[in-house]
Amino acid sequence: MQTLLGRISEEMGRAFEKAGYDPSLGTVTVSNRPDLCEYQCNGAMAGAKQYHKAPFMIADEVAAAVGEDSEVFASVTSVKPGFLNLDLKDSFLTGYLREMAREEKFGLEMPAKRTLKVMDYGGPNVAKPLHVGHLRSAVIGEAIKRIAKYNGEEVIADIHMGDWGLQMGLVITELRHRFPDLVYFDPSFDGSYPEDAPFTVSDLEEIYPAASKKSKEDPEYYAEAMETTKRLQEKERGIYDLWKKIYEISVADVKRNYADLDVDFDLWNGEATVNDLIPGMVEEMKRGGYAYTSEGALVVDVSEESDSREIPPCIILKSDGAALYTTTDLATILDRVSKYHPDEIFYVTDKRQELHFVQVFRAARKCGIIPEETKLTHVGFGTVNGKDGKPFKTRDGGVMRLSTLIADIRAEMLEKIRSNPEIAPEETEEIASQVAMAALKYGDLSNQASKDYIFDMEKFTSFEGDTGPYLLYTMVRIKSILRRFEEAGGKRAADCVLIDGAGASEKVLRRTMCRFSEMMKAAHQESAPHRLCAYVYELCNDFNSFYHENRILAEKDEALKESWIALLSLALSLLETSISCLGFSAPERM
Ligand code: ARG
Repeated sequence: MQTLLGRISEEMGRAFEKAGYDPSLGTVTVSNRPDLCEYQCNGAMAGAKQYHKAPFMIADEVAAAVGEDSEVFASVTSVKPGFLNLDLKDSFLTGYLREMAREEKFGLEMPAKRTLKVMDYGGPNVAKPLHVGHLRSAVIGEAIKRIAKYNGEEVIADIHMGDWGLQMGLVITELRHRFPDLVYFDPSFDGSYPEDAPFTVSDLEEIYPAASKKSKEDPEYYAEAMETTKRLQEKERGIYDLWKKIYEISVADVKRNYADLDVDFDLWNGEATVNDLIPGMVEEMKRGGYAYTSEGALVVDVSEESDSREIPPCIILKSDGAALYTTTDLATILDRVSKYHPDEIFYVTDKRQELHFVQVFRAARKCGIIPEETKLTHVGFGTVNGKDGKPFKTRDGGVMRLSTLIADIRAEMLEKIRSNPEIAPEETEEIASQVAMAALKYGDLSNQASKDYIFDMEKFTSFEGDTGPYLLYTMVRIKSILRRFEEAGGKRAADCVLIDGAGASEKVLRRTMCRFSEMMKAAHQESAPHRLCAYVYELCNDFNSFYHENRILAEKDEALKESWIALLSLALSLLETSISCLGFSAPERM
C-alpha cells in the first residue's frame, strides 16, 4: 500500500499533468503552516523556471485541474507567490484508514529484495560490570534491529562480547596473585579442571578494577598482565581453561541483565570467537603488501589524501605479537562475511569509538577483507550524564552499574504504582517492571542517539510529558475504553465500522495515524528510533485531545460511537506495534 503522502502526491501529479506540466512536480509534504492547511505542494514554484512562467499561474491552473469532484482533496487553494495549500476529504482519510486496518503491517510496503544485516551491539565486556554506556548500546541497537525487521529486513544480532583483550590478562594476573595455588596455574597439572569456578561474578567485578589500578601503578604487574594476555591468545592450557570459567560466569550474568532489558541476540560471539582466524588474516595482509612492521608492531596505513584530520595507521599486532581490539574487529568482519554474506554490517557503540571504526573500515576495504558492495556502518551514541551535566555516577561517585540503575528505576515505579488502589497487590511488581522498562528505554531512545542526554529519574518516571509512562498511561486509557465498550454489550472492536470523522481533533488524530508507514520507513532508513518516539508521543497527544473533546462511551449516535471504537482500536494497534519496535510494552492497567 502506498504511503499517504505517496498517494496524494500521485493525485497532485495527475493534476499537474492535466494542466500540461511534469507530474513529478506534484510532490506533497505535510504543511509547515498547519494553521492554513493540512498539506502543501510547492511544485509550481519548482516548475516556474522550467516552464518560464510565473509560479502563481501554474498553481492556479493546477488547482483548477484538480476540480471540484476530487475524491482526495476537500480543497486545493493556490496562494501567492505560487504555493498550493491542500486539505483532504474526510471520506478519503476514512478509506485510507480502513485499508490500513485491513492490510498486514498497516500497509507498510516490504522491500522487493530481502537484505541481510549483521548487527553488532551490546558489546559487554567479560569480567567488567555493565555500565550505563552498555545500556545505550543495547537499547538503541535493539530498537534499530526491531525497526529494521519490521521493515522487512533480515537481521542477525551479535552481542560481540569483549572477551579477549588485556582486561582478561589483568583479571587472570590478579587471580594468580591472590590464589597462586589454583590448579590452573600449576604447569605440571594434567588432569581435568574442576567443574565449579573458584570465584563468583561479584568477585570478578571487584577483581577487574583492582587489577586495572595496580597495572597503572606497577610496571612489573602490567608486564605480567600483557604476557598473560599473550599466553591466553595462544590458548595456553590452564590459562585458557581459567578464561573459560571467567567467561561462563560472566556470560550467565550478562544474559540475566539483557533478559531483564528484553534485549536478545542471535549470536553470542565475541572477540575470542575469531582468534584462530587472526594468523591467516595477518599473513594475507602481509602478502598483499598492506601490512608492514613499524617500531616492532605490524601496521596498516589507512590515511587518505582527502583527510582533513590525521587518521593514524591501524596497529594489527603489537611488538610482542598480541592482537588488539582492531585485530579482532577485522577478523570478525572476515568471519561474518564468510559465514553470512551480509549486505551490511552495522555497529552501535559509544561515539568516542568513531576513529576506531574509521580505521577498521578502511583497513577492511584496503585489505580486501570485505566485498566492495557490503556496507559498513557505525552509529555512535552520546554519553549519559547526570543532572550536573557530568557522566552519570552513583551517589558516592562510582561507576553506575546497569543492574543498579534498573533496580532504582523499578523501585521508583513500584512506589507510584502502589499508590493506585485499582491495582491488585500481586500485580504491582510486574506492572512496575513493565512501566520502568518504558521509562528507561523511552528516556534514552527519545533523544537523537548521537547526542548526550541527562538521566533524570524524576522526569523519566513521570506520568506526564514526553515520557514512557505517559505513553503507557494513554494506551491503558484506550484499552479501558475498549474494555468498557465490550462489557456494556458493544460489538467486538474488529466488527465496528469506521465512518467519516466528526470534529477537528478527530481529523488531526486520523491524519497522524495515516502517517504511520511514512514514519516507519524513515525511522528505518535513518536508523533513528527517536523518530518513532516522536511519532508515538504525537499520536498519544492527538488521542488525548480527541478524548478530552468527546465523550466516547456516552455518545448517543451508535454508528458514530462504533466508528470511534474502530478508530481507537486501530490507534492502539499502531501504538502497540510502535512501542514493541522500541522494545517495551503496555500493561492492561497502571
Ligand atoms: N566491548 C566494547 C566496549 O565495551 C564494545 C564492542 C563494540 N563492538 C565492536 N565490534 N567493536 O566498548
